[in-house]
Amino acid sequence: MSFSPHFSSGSSPFDRDLATLSNYLEVVTRHIKIDWEINWDAKTFGGYAELTLESRVEELQEVRLDSSYLDVKGVEVDGKAVEYSLDSRLEVMGEALRVKLPKSLNKGESITIKITYSTTPQCTAVGWLEPAQTKSGKHPYLYSQAQAIHARSMLPCQDTPAVKASYEAKVRSGRGLEVLLSGQRKGIKELAERGEGWREFAYEQPVGIPSYLIAIAAGELTHKPFENLQGRNWSTGCWTEPLNMDKAFWEFHKDTANFVKTAEDLTSSYKFGVYDILFLPESFPYGGMENSCLTFATPTIIAGDRSQVDVVAHEISHSWFGNGIGCASWSHFWLNEGWTTYLERLIMRETHGELERQLSYTVGRRGLVGDLERLNPRFQKLVIEYKEHEDPDEGYSQVPYEKGANFLLYLERTLGGLENFIPYMKDYVRTFEGTSITTDQWREHLFHYFKQHQDAEELTRRLGKVDWDEWLHGSGPDLCVDIQYDDTLSKACYDLAAKWDKARDGDVSSFTKDDIKDFSSTQTVVFLDKLETYDTLPPKVVAALDKLYGLGSTGNAEIGLRFFEVALKSGPEYAESAAGEIPYLTFSSLEVRPDVGMTSALNEQKPELAKETFLKHANFYHPIARKMIAKDLGVKVE
Ligand code: BES
Ligand code: ZN
Repeated sequence: MSFSPHFSSGSSPFDRDLATLSNYLEVVTRHIKIDWEINWDAKTFGGYAELTLESRVEELQEVRLDSSYLDVKGVEVDGKAVEYSLDSRLEVMGEALRVKLPKSLNKGESITIKITYSTTPQCTAVGWLEPAQTKSGKHPYLYSQAQAIHARSMLPCQDTPAVKASYEAKVRSGRGLEVLLSGQRKGIKELAERGEGWREFAYEQPVGIPSYLIAIAAGELTHKPFENLQGRNWSTGCWTEPLNMDKAFWEFHKDTANFVKTAEDLTSSYKFGVYDILFLPESFPYGGMENSCLTFATPTIIAGDRSQVDVVAHEISHSWFGNGIGCASWSHFWLNEGWTTYLERLIMRETHGELERQLSYTVGRRGLVGDLERLNPRFQKLVIEYKEHEDPDEGYSQVPYEKGANFLLYLERTLGGLENFIPYMKDYVRTFEGTSITTDQWREHLFHYFKQHQDAEELTRRLGKVDWDEWLHGSGPDLCVDIQYDDTLSKACYDLAAKWDKARDGDVSSFTKDDIKDFSSTQTVVFLDKLETYDTLPPKVVAALDKLYGLGSTGNAEIGLRFFEVALKSGPEYAESAAGEIPYLTFSSLEVRPDVGMTSALNEQKPELAKETFLKHANFYHPIARKMIAKDLGVKVE
């Protein structure tokens, strides 16, 4: 079908990325060459980044790049030293690095800019762990998290999802430690002249990616390939600290390659060659992060029962939505997360069936409504109207995920079900893969596609009746359309929760541990979510619940978090044990925020204990999480 995607230079003010200080509408990065050396003692890395940029305008005089807390030592343009300056720091945005071009550049012409620099200890992207914070306790560890706008604290770049560049990197480390990057490994060189344990790792990312997917990790790490499928031109496997390998491998080796294949069947071929998962130490601030070729994941999803594999289905789905089709600014972030969540659930449907997909929407809806209750109306919208220089992390919530996925489910139902929607999704991917788009471009293509459909007249009429404005720009306590999910799997959970609610003042002897014996872990989550909507339970009922179902000692974080939330609301009895679980349970920043879930319940019940627990673990947290929690608890760190 003929549909020509065009670059959006901003038909609405929010199409322009307001969270970058770079002049990316005038000039774009095509390729980045990185050369770093890790300084484990100073907790920095440095070397250079050489950007190849192409002008989009005539007579370009200056290139402005994002940088944050970098120690810039020199700048060269096409091999010659030039003058540069760093603007004074803007909160969150960092310091714009201005490079005056020795000779102006016309549209279509390219130059290279090489910046020699080093990161500093204030770098917000990288977490540095002491040996004691790793499994073996023997070696230090580092890992980065660049999304949304932390790449600029690792290298000067155009730190916006609107720009995609390929990259290559050489990184040196001593101490015999392994270095991983978000690309394909090309080789390792022993650096005998530097002394024992020094090696250089070469990586390449030939596919153009946004800056937020540039990632590094280093430490004592080993790799094991998963069972791969015949006839595919990609491989899957996992990286972990040696002591975690057996459990991690067992948990994910069966599903990973199948998930990639299922996603391919639903969209297009996998373009990144390698799909590896790196399991990080507990302090990793998210459940998962879709760094290209190398998903970063919290070890908490190694639950021992394969119950958290949906996180991997989610990160794999980003290979098409986010890493494939990108968002042109953080206002359109829902195109990444909403579409990814939608595809994640289609993948899970292949393995567990449609009813399980419906159950995931049920769980997600509860999270959405919870978030809508606490969020500023500005962040309740699917398309977020950020202010100039506002931190996109502020708009991080369930809204882009769940409102987004529900909007797509609603469109799927409106447009004749999966039979019509899957071919449409494939066409969407084919049309925009490799580009960054706005919500308007997505919608334009949707209309265009269904105009060509054999039932065009009826389907276009239905599309015309969708309340676009309300879905995209509306706020409020719930979805703007009453969307129902099949309750076959949730009904038993609701019934059991209602029974506990009724037993609150009396006898709990009719409950047995077999009540939840046939529940999947998702059903246990639905049960606890429902219980949480009732009035606070008396402590003795919570104790009975724990005793019968063993919820306070579960290895499953999704269940543990919810149980402790219910328990903490009922009284201080569980405060100490909840505090003890914090580093292991509160893995994702959605959960570490004290205004959310378990931590919030602890903060209300015992604020001193919440603060004390946080301070005890403060150094263990990633800088992003540390800053966020400290702000919310009203404590100062460093
Ligand atoms: N890309 C996100 C994580 C993210 C978003 C980091 C915005 C920084 C800014 C990742 O794909 C994600 O959605 N992770 C989820 C898990 C997922 C299964 C819903 C998380 O960590 O909670
Ligand atoms: Zn995601």
